[in-house]
Amino acid sequence: MTELFKPCYRIQGGRRLTGLVDVNGSKNASLPIMAACLLNAGENVLRNVPDLADVAIMARVLETLGAKIKREDHTMIIDTSGVNNFETPFELMNQMRASIYVMGPLLARYGRAKVAMPGGCAIGSRPVDYHIRGLQQMGVDMEIEQGYMDTRCKGLKGAHVFLDFPSVGATANVLMAATLAQGATIIENAAEEPHIVDLAWFLRSIGARVRGAGTKTIHIEGVGKLHGAEHDMIPDQIEAGTFIVAAAITQGSVTVRRACIRDLKPILVKLEEAGVTIKESGNELKVTARRKLKPLTVTTLPHPGFPTDMQPQIMALLTRADGVSIIRETVWENRYTHVAELLRMGADIKTQGNTAIVVGGGKLVGCEVNAPDLRAGAGLVLAGLAAQDTTTVYDIEHVDRGYEAFDKKLRALGAEITRPAPPKDKP
Ligand code: EPZ
Repeated sequence: MTELFKPCYRIQGGRRLTGLVDVNGSKNASLPIMAACLLNAGENVLRNVPDLADVAIMARVLETLGAKIKREDHTMIIDTSGVNNFETPFELMNQMRASIYVMGPLLARYGRAKVAMPGGCAIGSRPVDYHIRGLQQMGVDMEIEQGYMDTRCKGLKGAHVFLDFPSVGATANVLMAATLAQGATIIENAAEEPHIVDLAWFLRSIGARVRGAGTKTIHIEGVGKLHGAEHDMIPDQIEAGTFIVAAAITQGSVTVRRACIRDLKPILVKLEEAGVTIKESGNELKVTARRKLKPLTVTTLPHPGFPTDMQPQIMALLTRADGVSIIRETVWENRYTHVAELLRMGADIKTQGNTAIVVGGGKLVGCEVNAPDLRAGAGLVLAGLAAQDTTTVYDIEHVDRGYEAFDKKLRALGAEITRPAPPKDKP
């Protein structure tokens, strides 16, 4: 019987990373901005769009709706003039929850959106009640039918929307919908993430009237029509953060280029507290870790707090620190799936509810592990870089969702990491 091929990364740990790495454009800015192109029936030129599985899924969602998309390297041209369908099938929604970003723009422009109800995923049950409540306040009717949210409105009306939690997705959906609503919308307790700020920049460039993005209160004055525009995505905060930790965990010295230092501050302060030296210059960061790392207390929070999307990576790092660290995960209810895999590598970690206690300093020894989700997978690759012997990380399709050429970039920094190619089909 032939063995089933499973994509994986194979890492020989113990190499110090050195050199230069360039950060790609932000995934979590690209996804809502691609969806926001539905707001203007025009041509949009998006630059610095990363080449990732999630971006490809969003492109397919838009094409299913009737958009025409051309892509050359990191530039994507999205023409939404032919949009004629309002339904996002389960098959695509199931692959990527961010497909829900089309709901606000479709309702705003066409008064109709039918989107498969997203299921849970490895990091939590991920409800969409804040999205729905916000849109209902703006005049949307919704019925749930056979797993689909069938939403309609006769023109959206501005509203005063209070979010129970600063949800990134709900902020983006309500914000996009409000650009074409009648009158003013205020989003209170809005998400302040850099990708929300970038979305607002794009919306302004297509003619929307938005202010306050990047603070807790966003004001939107609806306009009658929007037009196409050009936009450059911001650098990916989490990709940059992951390479910074890669440098630190291998006691290396790496310059991370094309980064947005302001967006990285919540990550940088924690690494400096752990004893990593970081020199900032323009949009470059030189990260050097030569001393023993100090343990940390880290609480994940919405921006400008420490990002939950960096929690598995910092956990991997803290297994190398000299002492006991405490991590509290307050954004997702189930984001410790990487712990069991780190334990297999010899880490000493206990979890209790949303708290993880990481006893650093012991040996990490490579073995076979599974990437339970995107950032958990990145954390395991980082652990593999610092472990003795060989670590094989399976299920790396998750990692492909958020990191472009991850292994190639790590190899260029001196890591011994390979991605075995699938066997050629026999004739
Ligand atoms: C975005 O997800 C990101 N995804 C996630 O990154 C990130 O972890 C998350 O924000 C938090 O920063 C994209 O930007 C595409 P939320 P999102 O709505 O928008 C609860 C990655 O690794 N909630 O801010 O889905 C929810 O369950 C990904 O790149 C509700 O209860 O996250 C969670 O506990 C993974 N009801 C919390 O709020 C809702 O209607 C934050 O979720 C919406 C959210």
